[in-house]
Amino acid sequence: MPLADRHELLLTRLTRRGLLKTAAATVLAGAGPVLLAPRTDAATSGAATIQARWLAFGADPRHQMSVRWQTSGPVHRPRVRLGLDQTYGREIQARPIPLTTVRADGPRLVQHYLVAEVAGLSPATRYHYQVVHDGAGGSEVASGDATFRTAPDAGASSGFRFTAFGDQGVTGYGAAGDAPDTMQRLAGGLEPSFHLLAGDVAYADISGRGLAADDFVPERWGAYFRQIDAVFRSVPLMVALGNHEMEALYSPNGYGGFEARFSTPGNGPAGCPGTYSFVYGNVGVVSLDANDVTAEFAANRGYSAGTQRAWADGRLRALRADPDVDFVVAVFHQCAYSTGGHGSDAGVRHSFASLFDRHRVDLVINGHNHLYERTDPIRGGRPTLPAPSGATVLPDQDGTTYVVVGGGGASLSGFGRIPERNDVAGHGGPDVVTAGVQGGQIEQVDWSRARYRGHCVLCVDVSPAASSTGASLRLRALDQQGRIVDTVTLRRPAPSFTQVHEGLLVAGGVGALAVAGGAAAVLARRRTARAPGT
Ligand SMILES: [Fe+2]
Repeated sequence: MPLADRHELLLTRLTRRGLLKTAAATVLAGAGPVLLAPRTDAATSGAATIQARWLAFGADPRHQMSVRWQTSGPVHRPRVRLGLDQTYGREIQARPIPLTTVRADGPRLVQHYLVAEVAGLSPATRYHYQVVHDGAGGSEVASGDATFRTAPDAGASSGFRFTAFGDQGVTGYGAAGDAPDTMQRLAGGLEPSFHLLAGDVAYADISGRGLAADDFVPERWGAYFRQIDAVFRSVPLMVALGNHEMEALYSPNGYGGFEARFSTPGNGPAGCPGTYSFVYGNVGVVSLDANDVTAEFAANRGYSAGTQRAWADGRLRALRADPDVDFVVAVFHQCAYSTGGHGSDAGVRHSFASLFDRHRVDLVINGHNHLYERTDPIRGGRPTLPAPSGATVLPDQDGTTYVVVGGGGASLSGFGRIPERNDVAGHGGPDVVTAGVQGGQIEQVDWSRARYRGHCVLCVDVSPAASSTGASLRLRALDQQGRIVDTVTLRRPAPSFTQVHEGLLVAGGVGALAVAGGAAAVLARRRTARAPGT
């Protein structure tokens, strides 16, 4: 049964328990993501406290930032104060997003989220901000100071760093000990420019099947946001949708809760809130929703009716053609290639992998399997060369590197009877192993280069094309103690004189002297300004 139908079934069940289905349906048909509207007579309270803050980029990370936070109750005049120092100087009004959850067998819960979309920022600039609302008796309630930094203009000469993991969870919930907090603090300590979260965030939908009958504990979201404030009030958190983000209670596609809780650049296809892209420096990032194509879960399979794949095809093409973008990175939840317990996903491979080949995507980051795994570079479903830890890969000719970094904090899964393969630790595994494929046949796998059963954060150091060796992504997988368990470098060489020469000869048949001047023109063309909103 499609998720939309199951959602309707759930509403019917709730009606039987005394709720007004018509009222719920009316709200669902509107713009708001709530199941039932908050009580309109709910008084705002000056006693409401600020519980957590978190950030996300807008469509143009050079000029836009979304500030989100949660309060303990409704508030008057929520706003962000922002400036170059703690005198601030600018105020941006925020929009309240009260999210009401009504469970058949639990209490009614209202979670009070707020969002301020900040625009008009300067590139490569550090801003101070605090979130504020009116308190009792003319006072105000304000958070402490926090900072963020906007993305640089195209062609910036300095490198930067980003981090990634999936499957984080909440410390104190489940059996992962303090790993969810430890891993995010490890990532935050690396001072990344942004963090990619490859789906499965708080596990409020514990079952993760997208079913109305799933075990669902929305209070976990409150604990999650209190957990991440320490890091993601300063580091933009860019979330991809996992199977545990399909929360059937909120909206027909299950993403009403996600839309209430997280900001994204919002430039993907209509109806696909987890599908978007942004450019930071010389890296283009595309977030995809693998729930749309997975062979493992039926709930949202096919919900975009092909629009997501068509959008991704066009977006990846545009990024690869952008002279200011060296590397294209795709992030989504279910794995194209993994030998972990969930295995590879035939639906993901079928729908996405050919796009990555077509557009020479450099790096794919997945979660879902709670472990670390890296492939050799792959093209056409086949590894093109062995890339042991420490190797350098040339993605344009070698293919796409797939990394599973699902050890973001949730309880670990494993490789079953497949041994780890860790060059850094000094124990190699077999070249060929047998692994399962969701929706496919058992296969002999010869692309699994690094396997580590442990919590991991992926740290990616980006060097710009201005360096003599070209642009590079240096990947390091770090364990819970910050030790390197795997590393590989992806490199896109700078255009050689010969390449530039050939290009100009094809273009115009110019002479040697003109070519020398033309080479400078080609390199200069990389530094043109990019239109916002891409
Ligand atoms: Fe998952």
